[in-house]
Amino acid sequence: MKFLITGGAGFIGSNYLHYVTDKYNDDYFVCLDALTYAGNYNNIKDLEGKDNYKFVKGDITDRAFIDKLFCDEKFDVVINFAAESHVDNSIKNPEIFLVTNIIGTEILMDASLKYNVKRYHQVSTDEVYGDLPLDRPDLLFTESTPLHTSSPYSTSKASADLLVMAYYRTYGLPVTISRCSNNYGPYQFPEKLIPLTIMKALNNENIPVYGTGENVRDWIHVYDHNIGVDLIVRKGKIGEVYNLGGHSERPNIEIVKLILKQMNKSEDLITFVEDRKGHDLRYAIDSSKVEKELGWKRTYDFERGIKETIDWYLNNKEWINDIKSGRYKESYKG
Ligand code: NAD
Ligand code: DAU
Repeated sequence: MKFLITGGAGFIGSNYLHYVTDKYNDDYFVCLDALTYAGNYNNIKDLEGKDNYKFVKGDITDRAFIDKLFCDEKFDVVINFAAESHVDNSIKNPEIFLVTNIIGTEILMDASLKYNVKRYHQVSTDEVYGDLPLDRPDLLFTESTPLHTSSPYSTSKASADLLVMAYYRTYGLPVTISRCSNNYGPYQFPEKLIPLTIMKALNNENIPVYGTGENVRDWIHVYDHNIGVDLIVRKGKIGEVYNLGGHSERPNIEIVKLILKQMNKSEDLITFVEDRKGHDLRYAIDSSKVEKELGWKRTYDFERGIKETIDWYLNNKEWINDIKSGRYKESYKG
């Protein structure tokens, strides 16, 4: 089968490509990425030369380009990881989130319909469900929790999800959607809490913790997210949504302290700053549907996963420094 993987130079997409290009020699993977500020060719450089893989630079919002790509390549499966993904950016500048995350999805689905793609998979997020109170640990997001978004980012992702379900019902596009909680692991752009904390701690810089640091996220290793996406794409039922979660809820302040401890750095680096506008309090995912129906199982517990992840960043300081200096933008020679 021929796969189109959009956003493959980003954090989750690049981890996905490393996983599947090793696992499936008989499938072929085309990575499409616009290499925005969050796309880093260093994440996928080592895939060059693999027989079952190629990279194409391009934008999912460029309709003519996407049409030609689909016409030339005849994809069987499309997995849409491409997105503007950072909540803080969406608060400062919503428009690009609407264009990439909604219009980009529409353009990919139009091409999928026209060129008879057998499966369109949308990589979505638990943020579409809004947030949960801190004092109700019994409450979790299920697939039937109503969409109730907070930020322009989550609203753009929820809008895309609604559009995906509309293309299923109206045009019969064979779709699936996965909604995952907060990922951690290698190759995450250091604008997000965990790699940002590591990068700042390495340079003995202040670490900004929003508000009181009590907000809770449900952390999942990116590998476990990706084995879930792979399973849903290959075995999931058309027209269905599947939640994927880490079952590892932690307040932000605990995450930051844990990283500082492993790095032997002082907690004095922690700086409480103004809270994020509209800051979601708590996310927590019920993954029992994908576990029961498709047999998905997490392979990482949080303690092992976070330790390995911190070690990865400490062993790959050049990867971080390339981002800090901006050199990573020249990593794709085209
Ligand atoms: P990321 O920001 O690291 O990567 C996004 C990638 O998409 C980048 O390589 C970027 O260059 C590319 N891209 C952006 N606009 C594009 C466009 N117009 N055309 C082509 N490529 C474009 O994001 P991520 O953290 O890897 O997230 C991937 C997907 O997973 C997103 O859809 C996100 O909403 C979703 N998600 C992320 C998390 C998380 O914790 N990071 C959790 C659940 C779901
Ligand atoms: O839940 C899934 C979502 O997780 C994905 O859909 C998003 O693409 C991804 O970015 C992530 O969103 P968050 O907003 O939860 O991630 P972020 O790393 O930006 O922030 C995690 C928590 O840490 C959040 O409560 C805000 C807080 N934070 C973040 C940053 C960057 C801080 O306290 N300080 C910071 O500097």
